[in-house]
Amino acid sequence: MIELGVNIDHVATLREARKGAEPDLITAAKLCELAGAHQITVHLRQDRRHIQDRDVELLKQVLQVRLNLEMAAVDEIIGIARRIRPETVCLVPENRQEITTEGGLDVAGQVGRLTEVTAGFQDAAIRVSMFIDPDPEQVDASAEAGADYVELHTGAYANARGDELIAELDRIAEATERALDAGLAVHAGHGLTIRNLAAIAAIPGISEVNIGHSIIARAVFIGLEDAVHEILDILSVYPEEA
Ligand code: PXP
Repeated sequence: MIELGVNIDHVATLREARKGAEPDLITAAKLCELAGAHQITVHLRQDRRHIQDRDVELLKQVLQVRLNLEMAAVDEIIGIARRIRPETVCLVPENRQEITTEGGLDVAGQVGRLTEVTAGFQDAAIRVSMFIDPDPEQVDASAEAGADYVELHTGAYANARGDELIAELDRIAEATERALDAGLAVHAGHGLTIRNLAAIAAIPGISEVNIGHSIIARAVFIGLEDAVHEILDILSVYPEEA
């Protein structure tokens, strides 16, 4: 079965709206775990707009499933990650003005630096994913930098309509095949919902999806555990029998 990472950043967004303690992030993480999520994902942004350093520390202590830390490859956050030691890090581009992570990481433009960063994490037994657009050049550069995984950015697919939708799915399928051939495991994420997930899950070779906003948004109405169950129900159908 394709594994599910639930990104709980937006539970912290709500908490930070009042700078208080509620909703409690650890309760949210444990409910996702209880509902069957395979991983909890959080993004420790440099501006700390939602997740705080202490959240990452506590999650690492209490989770039974994997902790995946999304982060910019900058020294401050690298130091925190190496101290807390999540099971995986996912390197993402970060722009302080953006509402959410807008595009994939330009691995091809910084292979040297990312090779060093990746090796440093792997020496500390932390596996490394690169969040990239489904672009052959970025796939090849991620392999060259020594990544364990790529996470293909599905945002363009999520926003596409009509023929564009088919074109975006083709790009993701081709990037998946290329990454698998290069020895990388393939994850996908961004903008995925109960409505658009099935077509991504049907692409052979994708082993994990990370979903945040749509799960937390639906949780407001149907509760967090049911929102996780809905996604797991879709994933349970894939991969289809060969
Ligand atoms: N994967 C990565 C690398 C991301 O940066 C994000 C957004 O933080 C997600 C997945 C989840 O995207 P969404 O919140 O749109 O489901």
